[in-house]
Amino acid sequence: MTATGARFITLEGVDGSGKSTQAQRMKEALEAEGRSVVLTREPGGSVGAEEIRRLVLEGDPERWSAETEILLFTAARRDHLERTIEPALAAGQIVICDRFVDSTRVYQGLTRGDLRGVIDDLHRMMIGREADLTLLFDMDPKLGLARAKARQTVEERFEDMGLEMQIRMRAGFLELAAQAPERFAVIDAGRAVEAVASDVLAAVKAAL
Ligand SMILES: Nc1ncnc2c1ncn2[C@@H]1O[C@H](COP(=O)(O)OP(=O)(O)OP(=O)(O)O)[C@@H](O)[C@H]1O
Ligand SMILES: [Mg+2]
Repeated sequence: MTATGARFITLEGVDGSGKSTQAQRMKEALEAEGRSVVLTREPGGSVGAEEIRRLVLEGDPERWSAETEILLFTAARRDHLERTIEPALAAGQIVICDRFVDSTRVYQGLTRGDLRGVIDDLHRMMIGREADLTLLFDMDPKLGLARAKARQTVEERFEDMGLEMQIRMRAGFLELAAQAPERFAVIDAGRAVEAVASDVLAAVKAAL
């Protein structure tokens, strides 16, 4: 577990694992305690980055090469960092971010060619910040995909890549968590919303 004083919290995990649901609940729980919270998401979280979000999440799964995709995600992340994340942290707020660089590491690095080194280099050059605490929502990808598909949105480029891909992504996230145990908390996300929320809050409280 991370040292106390954490303020930049990221949520990661396969599609449909409950990140957005739990991010919202976490925000409400922390605000109920009088804390000032900014809830944001990637790709997106600033005006420019939300425009880039549409380019990467909509359309044909083969629309971009893995390399182009990494550049688009990094460009979006840089704008998000400058305009949303850094100002909020500087103002003493807690930032809850629904996906961050670990999603890029897993999606583009582990599953779309051996580009992990490039991603880490770009991250160092252009972003230079890791989360204080990363909650990994771990669950059977089949269940996650069923949940995600039931939602019906146009943002299905990645979900359309199928179950095989989701299984590899789950393994990729768990590998990242094993490599950086000081910042990761792995949450069993295959349970009822309330049970997951209570584990999330315990992990966050321990790190704040
Ligand atoms: N613990 C749970 N049990 C059952 N259904 C859930 C649970 N958590 C979330 N859901 C539902 O599953 C769907 C996916 O949840 P959510 O959108 O929070 O996942 P996500 O991880 O943000 O997905 P994505 O990666 O695609 O953004 C939603 O319809 C949500 O209401
Ligand atoms: Mg979501």
